[in-house]
Amino acid sequence: MVSIPSELIESLRHAKHVVATTGAGVSAESGVPTFRDAQTGLWAKYEPTELAAPRAFHKDPKLVWEWYQWRRDKVLSVHPNPGHYALVELGSRWPKFDLITQNVDGLHQQAGSQNVIELHGSIMTARCFDRGHQSEFWPESSEQCPPVCEICASLMRPNVVWFNESLPKRAIDEAMRASRECDVFFSIGTSSIVYPAAALATNALESGAVVIEINPNETPLTSMATYSIVGPSGIVLPELLAKLAGEFR
Ligand code: OAD
Repeated sequence: MVSIPSELIESLRHAKHVVATTGAGVSAESGVPTFRDAQTGLWAKYEPTELAAPRAFHKDPKLVWEWYQWRRDKVLSVHPNPGHYALVELGSRWPKFDLITQNVDGLHQQAGSQNVIELHGSIMTARCFDRGHQSEFWPESSEQCPPVCEICASLMRPNVVWFNESLPKRAIDEAMRASRECDVFFSIGTSSIVYPAAALATNALESGAVVIEINPNETPLTSMATYSIVGPSGIVLPELLAKLAGEFR
């Protein structure tokens, strides 16, 4: 069993506005690889600038499209894990709850979370590279790879944020505001090194929120967080939920 301090549970019982931010670690137990874990992370095997940057797409659009197609197929073959489901239930416990994710896999929504703020977009949809025409569906590759936009014939790209690109304005504005206004802030399964997402926890700390990190490994946030719970989110979050409901008291 994971050690969860009783003062943390008290803070959660009295909270009015809770924010949870998640990263790749929350989907790890579903079988989606993280980015920076030493052996299994995507960036241990692939060069991010060759795959997740506008320059990479200019250089080799087919390679980039196929890599995202591979990741998308992976995501479509897995299911939400107990951590995703615990967040759905946790979200209904407070008057205001915001779930902010860096993940593009849609697993929070699949588990039942609503109004998820997606900071890095979604791998479920695509848009065209030149003019941003949105496609509600992922266009299947035919002989043309990547497929082309039905409106302007430019190449389609995944609807995700790449390195050197801005985050969707509405999503980051909402996330920044929530991080400054909440009284409890969770940072779950993220290495806390990619900005601006990593700034959300700092905002919350500066605004006086109780900051709780859930991660099996240490991150730059660990020493600053009010509480650091060491463990996988698929175990910690259901335990937290049960403890909050009084089962372990
Ligand atoms: P990272 O791969 O950087 O970090 C994953 C974190 O999850 C690490 O701190 C792990 O220790 C932790 N972790 C692993 N297994 C876990 C588990 N079962 N439960 C909880 N935590 C676990 O992923 P992110 O922080 O999400 O951006 O990466 C941020 C961004 O960098 C991504 O959105 C992506 C990437 O480059 C873009 O592609 C723009």
